Amino acid sequence: MMNSIVTDAQVGSRNATKAFDSAGAKPVLEVNGLEVTYYTDLGRARALDDVGFSLGAGEKLGMVGESGSGKSTLALAMMRMIKPPGRIEGGSVIVDGVDLMALDEGGMRRARLSKIAYIPQGAMNSLNPVIRIGAQMVDAVKSHISGESKSAIQDRCIHALRSVDLDPGVFRMYAHELSGGMKQRVCIAIGILLEPKVIIADEPTSALDVVTQRQVMETIDRVQSQINAAVILIGHDMGLMAQFVDKVAVMYAGRLVEVSTVRDMFTEPNHPYSKALISSLPNLGNKGVFRGIPGLAPSLLRLPGGCAFHPRCEQAMSQCSTVRPESTIVGNERLVTCHLFDEDAAK
Ligand SMILES: Nc1ncnc2c1ncn2[C@@H]1O[C@H](COP(=O)(O)OP(=O)(O)O)[C@@H](O)[C@H]1O
Ligand SMILES: [Mg+2]
Repeated sequence: MMNSIVTDAQVGSRNATKAFDSAGAKPVLEVNGLEVTYYTDLGRARALDDVGFSLGAGEKLGMVGESGSGKSTLALAMMRMIKPPGRIEGGSVIVDGVDLMALDEGGMRRARLSKIAYIPQGAMNSLNPVIRIGAQMVDAVKSHISGESKSAIQDRCIHALRSVDLDPGVFRMYAHELSGGMKQRVCIAIGILLEPKVIIADEPTSALDVVTQRQVMETIDRVQSQINAAVILIGHDMGLMAQFVDKVAVMYAGRLVEVSTVRDMFTEPNHPYSKALISSLPNLGNKGVFRGIPGLAPSLLRLPGGCAFHPRCEQAMSQCSTVRPESTIVGNERLVTCHLFDEDAAK
């Protein structure tokens, strides 16, 4: 999706994402200044550090980043499902004008699935083996809304199964009778039962073979356009992601370091880490050899000072090891968190 509103490069980090809307339309999802810390015996891990972005209805965002960068934590925080030793320390998650962080427990329970649905990492392996798929779907509906008749709920479930290209007969089946791709489709069907405004799918294809991966991505694509939801796809496969999303968000050590449209990201990545991620993708030039990014992802318990990426950055400057970069908006509504884009950087 190409947008063209004028942005204000002077806004600070916490406000930077406000300008980051879709074509003037009110975004259906706005995340602002989200902070999560895990209090472990070894120290504090700041797993989300001032994370903010917004999405319009029907928009798809791919969230990428190395393992441990905070992607699942972001999904869990948006659902208010962070468990101890983790704690949400601040921020707002506004869906359709309502701040989820301000709801009471009952309100949040109703919001889950009906406003915002989450398909967890490994969901397809957590289907109950001794309960029929249909009964699990009915339970999901009943635990989030009340007052719908038994037959209406069943119709809703069958409709969802059809939407993900599964035979209604799956309703009577058990998980072990289904292939991996079919189980993942069941999880997607559960996610769309109440036609949420926002769907978050955490690594939905990671356990699947390449052909099934594509089919599952196509299914997500189709159901999201049917219900016009905003979708966040979490994954580490930037190549696969790029074929299915409108925007890409890159996480590094708990911060969003870049958010751009797919086109901008692939033609001209701004952040040095995005550049490294893209040049590490297999292509014709490097004959499919995965280069990887030199150096290790840092532990959140011992983050380097300044910009957490500076020890691995080819373009690091002196301030990068001491001064924390703020997020700014540049060019075509692109968020970037890097001193190379500081306003007063003489270039
Ligand atoms: N249950 C937990 N206890 C302590 N620390 C955690 C826990 N879950 C996550 N973390 C910390 O949060 C970081 C981000 O984890 P996660 O969100 O699962 O990353 P990703 O999904 O990107 O692989 C981890 O590197 C770890 O430091
Ligand atoms: Mg994860």
